[in-house]
Amino acid sequence: MNTSTLRVRVARKTVEALDICLFELVDVNDAPLPAFSAGSHVDVHLPGGLTRQYSLCNDPTESHRYLIGVLKDPASRGGSKSMHEAVKEGDVLEISMPRNHFPLAHEARRNVLLAGGIGVTPILCMAERLANAGADFVMHYCARSKERTAFHDRITSSSFAHKVQFHFDDRAVEQKLDLPSLLAVPEPGTHLYVCGPQGFMDAVLGTARAQGWPEAQLHFEFFSAQVVKSDSDASFEVKLASSDRVIVVPADKTVAQALAEAGIDVPLSCEQGVCGTCLTRVLAGQPDHKDMYLTPAEQAANDQFLPCCSRSKSALLVLDL
Ligand code: FES
Repeated sequence: MNTSTLRVRVARKTVEALDICLFELVDVNDAPLPAFSAGSHVDVHLPGGLTRQYSLCNDPTESHRYLIGVLKDPASRGGSKSMHEAVKEGDVLEISMPRNHFPLAHEARRNVLLAGGIGVTPILCMAERLANAGADFVMHYCARSKERTAFHDRITSSSFAHKVQFHFDDRAVEQKLDLPSLLAVPEPGTHLYVCGPQGFMDAVLGTARAQGWPEAQLHFEFFSAQVVKSDSDASFEVKLASSDRVIVVPADKTVAQALAEAGIDVPLSCEQGVCGTCLTRVLAGQPDHKDMYLTPAEQAANDQFLPCCSRSKSALLVLDL
């Protein structure tokens, strides 16, 4: 076993809501698990060689288990289908150590948590943490219907239930989330955290940016994303700085695929530009960013990119590989 991975047993697998399963993972020897902070995720290595990332959604003060919630996605590329159909109680899985690309901002005076669908998993963990710390926060949770709302009962029976508002797509318009008014005034010290599917993220972040929220007060994690292909996606070259080796990236392959075919493995997980696992430094050239992981300012700096999805605007990219 790799020292950066953990072997865990599926202690419980339960149906949390329609098409959403909850997995309780414990150490194979029932030892305490490494600590994690709110917003953390683990990579789960699935049968068949797939790796998928799932946010931890239990109280971060717990050390006896990790909880992950998995939506069965009809457009599954195999990960959620495998979790729902193949993984069962008693199975042993290999997972990564918890990592956090979506931490709470300690300097925040007030926190606005926005969850869309299964994007509730890291947001709920944040709510637990903020409630434990006595911090000022509100949470809005948008879901298609109550039957698709994971953790509804856990939230309504929690100590912070009065800070949470639910919004259901299939109910009256008056209870829907009014983003322009919620995000009307960016207050200094108020931080916004958002996780959910792409349409939800685009609506929240688009509204916040249009209403003048500073980027430093926006925190986001895409649950999944559609990598946008464009007609202008062309062939280009990447050069490995360590060896000066030049590799051609054809129009129909990603940089990561072209590198893998040349025997250079870049670590991959989501392959959708949302997780940051493949982040690679760019020493020269201009990347064509297609990811949802870097902030606009980080993309504009052009000194790093995500080779699982991003391409190049220049004929050559020099990579720190
Ligand atoms: S593998 Fe997730 S961003 Fe590239």
